[in-house]
Amino acid sequence: MTVHIGAKPGDIAETVLLPGDPYRAKWAAENFLDNPVLVNEVRGMLGFTGTWNGHKVTIHGSGMGMPSLSIYANELIRDYGAKTLIRIGSCGAMQKHVGVRDVVIAMTSSTLGSPSRGIFRDMNFAPCADYKLLQAAVEATKGMDVPVHVGGIYSSDTFYDERDDLVDQLTRHGTLAVEMEAAELYTLANRHSVRALAVLTVSDHLQTGEALPSDQRERSFGDMVEIALKAAFT
Ligand code: HPA
Repeated sequence: MTVHIGAKPGDIAETVLLPGDPYRAKWAAENFLDNPVLVNEVRGMLGFTGTWNGHKVTIHGSGMGMPSLSIYANELIRDYGAKTLIRIGSCGAMQKHVGVRDVVIAMTSSTLGSPSRGIFRDMNFAPCADYKLLQAAVEATKGMDVPVHVGGIYSSDTFYDERDDLVDQLTRHGTLAVEMEAAELYTLANRHSVRALAVLTVSDHLQTGEALPSDQRERSFGDMVEIALKAAFT
């Protein structure tokens, strides 16, 4: 047991999928895993372990934002031995050619501030995804009827962001989308020599104001779970 995870040693798999929402973790475990078992519910942050095609997998909520994800990712890596961590979540598109419901796979993520920011002082560390995991995820999307974009994203520390100029600059530099967790996940994975990836679906568009209707969110989420599982075990 750790401060935030009540699982026993061995209850957590080496492969962990991390949706932000704990109820999404429950939905994914019930719909994709064989014999899912609840392994954590401390503070309502649900985690389940089961098997997918015979492989042991944990699906655990990360909460919203980098401070929350940092707590769970640190404990999963350092105390439970997680070796492959894949964030599955939503993002807001920043480029015209990226559409609502498209999949975005993040090579790297820019950030203004993350829980790890302080240790780099004036250095702008570029956290990066695991290349083989990224390649396998792109491969897993082939045959799926959904456009896929691979590139840099932005992990924001605020959802209701009034710093319009900041988003403009990042957009001008080709940033595909904004979300709130990937940069810290990649930084922790880089620090601890484990594998990480963020597979995201576009839930809303910063330029057009378009948003994914709620009845389509479940389908998009299911697509991400499938991509993440295939990538993890390629
Ligand atoms: N901002 C930050 N995170 C997000 C957004 C957004 O517009 N959409 C989905 N996740």
